[in-house]
Amino acid sequence: MTGPRMTGADSPPSLTVSRLAYAYPDGTQALFGVDLTIRRGERVALLGPNGAGKTTLVMHLNGILTAGHGTVEVAGLPVRKDTLLEIRRRVGLVFQDPDDQLFMPTVRDDVAFGPANLGLRGDELDRRVCDALTRVGMLDAIDRPPHHLSFGQRRRVAVATVLAMEPEILVLDEPSSNLDPASRRELADILKSLDVTVLMVTHDLPYALELCERSLILSGGVIAADGATHSLLADAGLLAAHRLELPYGFAVPALQE
Ligand SMILES: Nc1ncnc2c1ncn2[C@@H]1O[C@H](COP(=O)(O)OP(=O)(O)OP(=O)(O)O)[C@@H](O)[C@H]1O
Ligand SMILES: [Mg+2]
Repeated sequence: MTGPRMTGADSPPSLTVSRLAYAYPDGTQALFGVDLTIRRGERVALLGPNGAGKTTLVMHLNGILTAGHGTVEVAGLPVRKDTLLEIRRRVGLVFQDPDDQLFMPTVRDDVAFGPANLGLRGDELDRRVCDALTRVGMLDAIDRPPHHLSFGQRRRVAVATVLAMEPEILVLDEPSSNLDPASRRELADILKSLDVTVLMVTHDLPYALELCERSLILSGGVIAADGATHSLLADAGLLAAHRLELPYGFAVPALQE
């Protein structure tokens, strides 16, 4: 890893998933033994067709679902019932639909909710809230009701609610969906500016290429590929085998030496 972003040579990986398998109560087996490791400071895209198990995997990362088999560790701490509070502080999960995340009367209350639960009060709490909103460019909306904001603005506030927890890893489920091109670009700039480990579920392959040096392909409940985003997206056979398609007219640019 180059540049000023944090590196993790001497700290445990942000995320380690080992042999994770899961079947829903109706018997649908969604994950068949997933192994992956994400080092501190990496930005990784999780690609895969509809029904591959991406959201199911993401819901294991902060214990919304708990492993049928296998283990999940966040910075060395196993996800278990007795660690859930700390796990939820470490894993900032941004849901696909911001309305699943925002439920308070004002933006300020929504962003303050998590840190207040951790016991922060007064100036310290205000500073957390203002910092998080500044990082996503939404400080001006601090006193507005979230339901008066546009979808793209609500998505940014949803990102701020998890940044305010100072998470070990930010996990986003389809962050670019339903954004207009300018909002999509602005969110990319925000994500690039954050000094935090990121796992991003996306069907937007150019977004993965722009933001993530590394990608994983989840297909049929297993990791089918793990490598440089550029090489994966340049492999037409691999993409076709997992129902992934580049947008019409998009060519993966040649690597600059
Ligand atoms: N609550 C549920 N009960 C039973 N089966 C479920 C449930 N939720 C998801 N599944 C099944 O689990 C599998 C994985 O679904 P999941 O939502 O994880 O896929 P995904 O990769 O996120 O897909 P998408 O790209 O469409 O969001 C699918 O076969 C799906 O039908
Ligand atoms: Mg999904």
